[in-house]
Amino acid sequence: MHSYERLLLENKAWAKEQKSRDPEFFTRLENQQTPEFLWIGCSDSRVPPNQITNTQPGEMFIHRNIANLVVNTDINLLSVLQYAVDVLKVKHVIVCGHYGCGGVKAAMTQKGFGIIDNWLKEIKDVYRMYQDEITAIETEDEKFDHMVELNVREQVFNLAKTTIIQKAWKEEQRPQLHGWVYRLSDGIIKPVCEMDSNSPIDPLYEYDNL
Ligand code: CO
Repeated sequence: MHSYERLLLENKAWAKEQKSRDPEFFTRLENQQTPEFLWIGCSDSRVPPNQITNTQPGEMFIHRNIANLVVNTDINLLSVLQYAVDVLKVKHVIVCGHYGCGGVKAAMTQKGFGIIDNWLKEIKDVYRMYQDEITAIETEDEKFDHMVELNVREQVFNLAKTTIIQKAWKEEQRPQLHGWVYRLSDGIIKPVCEMDSNSPIDPLYEYDNL
């Protein structure tokens, strides 16, 4: 049996088990989704959003990319965000990074990995912005952990800079933004920051004509 065939077999078993546990499960989800959360996470295979939060299909709208970045020229991210906020009306947007993130680690070195270097440049910018703070930290491991947290924080700021979030805040006082970091070694998520419609934004990024 090829490795991918196991996935199809497991899928059949899962669907059967799901149906036996909750006969209405699939028919209920077939016609609509009303997720309360948008999750922006890392593509890392060790950080599966639904599993680590014990959420079911239909509960979380998900976008993943390398190092959970919110890049304002990324039409994929912007489309997911706009649909989640304007159409699905999510109440919470969660940016979840993780300690030991290879993307963050790579950005902290001078080694190039190809096309991905262009993506990771965003993290190098975060590093440069907080250089004094990071240099003051003693060990490399602590520096790395702190960069993971700073990266999540910056991505939450990046969300707040979008007209999508600012407009929703102005009109409906939602969604709340959350920056979280997952620890691979114990499976625990640490909340690191929060923003909502009352949070101050640097005026330079604030649009007053929305
Ligand atoms: Co990662």
